[in-house]
Amino acid sequence: MNKRDVRSMIACAALGVASWCGAQTASDKTEDIWLSTLDVSRIEQGWGQGRSNRTVDNRRMTIAGKSFEQGIGTHANSIIPLKVDGKAVKISGCVGLDDETGGRGSIIFSVKADGKEIWNSGTMKPQTPAKVFSLDIKGVKTLDLVVSDAGDGYDYDHADWADLKITMLSGAKPTLDMPEIEEPYILTPKPKPTPRINGTKVFGVRPGSPFFFRIAATGDRPMTFSADGLPEGLTLDAKTGQISGKLTKEGEYKVMLHARNALGEAEREFKIVCGPTIGLTPAMGWNSWNCFASAVTAEDIKAAADAMVESGLIDHGWMYINIDDYWMVHRNSDDPSLQGPHRDQDGKILPNPRFPDMPGLTDYVHDLGLRIGLYSSPGPWSCGGCVTSFRYEEQDATQYAEWGFDYLKYDWCSYNKGLEEHRDDLSWDPNSGGNITYANNSYTLEDHQRPYVIMQKALAKQPRDIIYSLCQYGTADVWKWGPDVGGNSWRTTQDINDSWGSMSGIGFRQDGLEAYAGPGHFNDPDMLVIGKVGWGPQLRDSRLTPNEQYTHISLWSLLASPLLIGCDMTQLDDFTLSLLTNDEVIEVNQDPLGRQASRVALDGQLEVWAKEMEDGSKAVGLFNRANREATVTVKWSDLGIEGQQVVRDLWRQEDLGNFENKFEAKVGRHGVVLVKISPKK
Ligand code: GLA
Repeated sequence: MNKRDVRSMIACAALGVASWCGAQTASDKTEDIWLSTLDVSRIEQGWGQGRSNRTVDNRRMTIAGKSFEQGIGTHANSIIPLKVDGKAVKISGCVGLDDETGGRGSIIFSVKADGKEIWNSGTMKPQTPAKVFSLDIKGVKTLDLVVSDAGDGYDYDHADWADLKITMLSGAKPTLDMPEIEEPYILTPKPKPTPRINGTKVFGVRPGSPFFFRIAATGDRPMTFSADGLPEGLTLDAKTGQISGKLTKEGEYKVMLHARNALGEAEREFKIVCGPTIGLTPAMGWNSWNCFASAVTAEDIKAAADAMVESGLIDHGWMYINIDDYWMVHRNSDDPSLQGPHRDQDGKILPNPRFPDMPGLTDYVHDLGLRIGLYSSPGPWSCGGCVTSFRYEEQDATQYAEWGFDYLKYDWCSYNKGLEEHRDDLSWDPNSGGNITYANNSYTLEDHQRPYVIMQKALAKQPRDIIYSLCQYGTADVWKWGPDVGGNSWRTTQDINDSWGSMSGIGFRQDGLEAYAGPGHFNDPDMLVIGKVGWGPQLRDSRLTPNEQYTHISLWSLLASPLLIGCDMTQLDDFTLSLLTNDEVIEVNQDPLGRQASRVALDGQLEVWAKEMEDGSKAVGLFNRANREATVTVKWSDLGIEGQQVVRDLWRQEDLGNFENKFEAKVGRHGVVLVKISPKK
């Protein structure tokens, strides 16, 4: 018996089950196998990833105060599919909700043998003692170990299959019954050599703010640009397609853009709306966090901007290059490149040595025809522990505008309402209230809004348009008041990662928020996790499978979410690029109506989401969240339409024909078919 077995026996003995759990069933015909020896990192689950001998949050497994060394940590809704081919005798374990949820969550564990349920734990809540099971499974071919959310949604449903063990005939081994992963496959057609104008069709600017917009167009170069009906105050550079200048009067201006090359000409309407609202369509760009995180440097930012141009992404409407956390000085890092004075003698914030020339950096990015963003927090420290804006909000906003920034992500982090009592008492040290705290239920609505209102007012005073991106992880139903505090977008969730559980858990949970999205204010289910990601400095290929990546981009487009690429732009492979350069898919995201899709049909793990488009069509995603290929159907009655409809496959950019009453498609594991459905003319 090794050390682990002894500890495990102690844990189970404490539950009064030493006779079966953790004790070795010595027999010459069978052997016990810990199921945690299987690689469970890719099992189906609603959040995070499956882990051996650890919880879903990578901690020691603990159920109602009892710790376990062995087992599998997962998250509802999840399935561990096992193949045992009639060679298993018994399965046993102890299950429960992990204590790491801090008193939240509720789950039900069940075991299915050849598709039929043979055991069920009943609802398990925080502090429900671990329940034990020991099941005879002789002759069974497949087993599904299922955790469901007990019917109340799967927030905080951290589930432990502790001491999970299977007894098999000697020599036989259980395997995970996981489907093969598809190879990357490219559906997006290559851009044509003739001109095509892409990107947003509507652009907001405040009166008096510098206007800065580059026409996005694909097609062979050289290309020349012109525009009919440009309002007074704006000029167009025919060579680059850059429109700049200033508008003084509020109003809507309809412009016709033209792009011409040796092979032809394209034209497209473009609406300029001069008024208080900016960010009329979701922001499209890149952010440093999901790849470089705390390792980011100004050189990375420049390289990302260069790659945005060289890869051609700029020609599809990608616009922002955003620095996330770690451009500021760190409070106590040993890394000299994060050290230095926090502010100068006048209180002006100072970047860390990795960002020696902020105006030079913004000029560099602007000269490429792109816009640039940065990050701060309303508390004394960012989430990573760098200097932020508490007590300096207006001065910082002025500094950001002077440096030339166009976008601010404002991340709650160390803010807490206690800071406010000391706002004017300069002898008080904010560090004492500067630990990371999350807004909690005792906060009033005003407490949640206050820091965002302070920065909103500071930004409004700037002679420059700065997109305001709120990040407070969706607390206090931010979608209900995000627009009132000036938010052009607001995060609706905790941070995403590149696992199916995280991405699909976040994405498919956006249903119900559609009422709150509209031009100038969008729900933000967090940044994209395709390409080379890794939260720096070590990067890896996204763990999402190709189908899952199609689901990610399709769903985020339907959701009218900001599209912020999270990977290393200098390492874009053809597959990743194909996901980001499909103009018909991007048009779903950038549609001027600014509607967000909602779920219109649900059949087990098959979901249909639909979004109303400006041209009267519907963009529709047929999603398969299951582990096997399935046929997904959209009925016209679910879309509120009837009669003959033309269905177009948006990823392939191909009409599929006319359909009546419904459309159905085979959809791969975790995949999508994204279509546009328009009445037949
Ligand atoms: C939070 C945010 C992330 C990122 C980090 C930076 O976790 O949600 O998107 O900005 O902070 O520290």
